[in-house]
Amino acid sequence: MLRVEALHTYYGRGHILQGIDLEVPAGATAAVLGRNGVGKTTLLRSIVGLTRPRGGRVLLADEDVAGWPPHRIVRLGVGYVPEGRMIFPDLTVVENIQVAQRTAPKRWTIERLLEVFPSLAERRRSKGAQLSGGEQQMLALARALVTDPRIILLDEPSQGLAPLIVEELIRLIRTLRAEGVSFLLVEQNLRLAEAVADVVYVMVKGQTVYRAPLSQFSAERESVKARYLTL
Ligand SMILES: Nc1ncnc2c1ncn2[C@@H]1O[C@H](COP(=O)(O)OP(=O)(O)O)[C@@H](O)[C@H]1O
Ligand SMILES: [Mg+2]
Repeated sequence: MLRVEALHTYYGRGHILQGIDLEVPAGATAAVLGRNGVGKTTLLRSIVGLTRPRGGRVLLADEDVAGWPPHRIVRLGVGYVPEGRMIFPDLTVVENIQVAQRTAPKRWTIERLLEVFPSLAERRRSKGAQLSGGEQQMLALARALVTDPRIILLDEPSQGLAPLIVEELIRLIRTLRAEGVSFLLVEQNLRLAEAVADVVYVMVKGQTVYRAPLSQFSAERESVKARYLTL
């Protein structure tokens, strides 16, 4: 589905991504863990074309899209949920979804989305600004679905959410996975990552230093945490 090979990205002279290798098979979920500032957001931005990588490949269904503009990459079936959610505060739940619909919805009609996201259905006429952090995250995810993505890039969705809401997010991601959506999830919340991932990567200073299937990661969690994730 998605394969990233030897990806290098710079901000000015800052060499942020220093050769990232990573793969998300179709229908699978990969989690990328890493401390603040290691380049997780830059990785997602580089995949979706918001930041142009300077070297390496981003393969989507065997097409190398590195350096393509975002609208063309999105059209190949990539959804992006940015850090901070970026909900329109003055638009209602339904309006926030409608403005993201570029074409007539095929799979994810508003009705269908409200069915899968019951907490949004209750709040469908509420403005973005009136939603809780959890509801905003659900809305950001619902909005990403309207382009009918095959893979969704999720940037720290659990940030600022209470544990109970994280559990709801886990259920939602699992529901979407069962619908065949793949995820590349960037997280610092290990509970969420372990609940949904098939494979776990760890990034340190712009490089992927660890990769393991979930069962292996769970067995090695404490040593991985101590080595790469705690300050
Ligand atoms: N727009 C930018 N211009 C310059 N440097 C940036 C920019 N965005 C991020 N950086 C730097 O790139 C590094 C990686 O940032 P980021 O990808 O946001 O990390 P993470 O998401 O893992 O916290 C950090 O050192 C950060 O300060
Ligand atoms: Mg980030």
